[in-house]
Amino acid sequence: MQKICITLGTRPEIIKLSPVIREFSRKEIDFFIVHSGQHYSANLDSLFFEELNLPKPKYNLQVGSGTHSYQTSNILSKIEPILIDEKPDVMVVQGDTNTVLSGALAASKLNINVSHVEAGLRSFDRKMPEEINRILTDHISDILFCPTEDSKINVLKEGIDQHKIFVTGNTVVDALYQNKQFSSKSKILEKLKVIEKGFFLSTIHRQENVVNKVRFKKIMNSLNSVSTYFDKKLIFPSHPRTKKLVNELNIDTSNIDIIEPLGYLDFLHLCSKAKLVFTDSGGIQEEACILQVPCITLRDSTERPETIDVGSNILSNISSEEIINNAKSFLSKNKRWTNPFGDGKSSEKIVEIISSQL
Ligand code: UD1
Ligand code: UDP
Repeated sequence: MQKICITLGTRPEIIKLSPVIREFSRKEIDFFIVHSGQHYSANLDSLFFEELNLPKPKYNLQVGSGTHSYQTSNILSKIEPILIDEKPDVMVVQGDTNTVLSGALAASKLNINVSHVEAGLRSFDRKMPEEINRILTDHISDILFCPTEDSKINVLKEGIDQHKIFVTGNTVVDALYQNKQFSSKSKILEKLKVIEKGFFLSTIHRQENVVNKVRFKKIMNSLNSVSTYFDKKLIFPSHPRTKKLVNELNIDTSNIDIIEPLGYLDFLHLCSKAKLVFTDSGGIQEEACILQVPCITLRDSTERPETIDVGSNILSNISSEEIINNAKSFLSKNKRWTNPFGDGKSSEKIVEIISSQL
């Protein structure tokens, strides 16, 4: 009987692994969850376990916040004794956070098979901590679940053995489809007093946008100007690290409704009804694409080029002029596109492959 260890630690990992966890349960495969504790605030963590009806982690390493080396090394040293004791056959990680790299590395050194969900994404910008985590994790993984052919090509070019690579689609689609009731369950539009397509939605949390305070201030000032220009309220569910900055800096947020991070169903509902999304989030670029909502990504690069190719997403610099021009070009056409991230059956494929490989 195989034993699987699933390691996760942040909001997007909980969401995108939820269909995989459900599939392991459905197939009665023996698994346990290790939570690194990288995210610990209820609205980034326990809220999602409750909403998505997930089993509680067997272990929580409680690493909390800190520098990259602090987080990575603490997860490594805390997870190792658990792996030695539990002796899992497979370690499953998802995405590109510090939790992912540490979980994969600890397992790899103990000769535990590492399966990387959402492998092969590349922004080709090594200044991003996530890019380092992705590259290293892919290179120590035994099975790479690439969401698309593009991501498979990325890892083939880096010399990874093709027999380790499987194109499965992205579990973000499975999670979204499995929670389709968001539109009937969520009352978030009424709560925020906005109407369908009458507002913009934005999230900003990535290191490159929030570490440099001048850049962050410029982003917020631009978003405020864009929302004034189009006369649309901008809803801004704020990651805690972003909220700290807004409070610290003197920013004009007169047209921006800064709110606490939302639950998954409320967020999906709000996203599906937004006129436009402005973000630096990876997962939200994908979800906007799946929900047929145009997305403007406030970054210089993206590891989700499929969204640009299908026409759902534009990379923009952070000046209000450029953002307004990009928004106008989206709003002038009523475009639709094809979702490049799969049919919502990725988790079935992933669990089937993990089972058959052992
Ligand atoms: C991390 C990931 C990022 C991912 C994001 C998902 C890395 C390098 N970064 O970024 O790739 O997109 O999660 O949201 O792994 N904080 C809280 N409560 C929490 C967690 C964090 O208040 O539960 C605050 C702390 O001040 C902390 C800061 O947010 O210092 C940043 O947290 P951290 O986990 O280091 O990075 P994220 O920006 O969340
Ligand atoms: N999300 C959420 N509530 C929010 C903002 C985002 O539930 O207030 C969800 C969103 O639906 C997506 C995921 O969080 O599935 C994206 O997480 P985040 O932007 O923190 O990380 P990234 O995807 O950039 O790694």
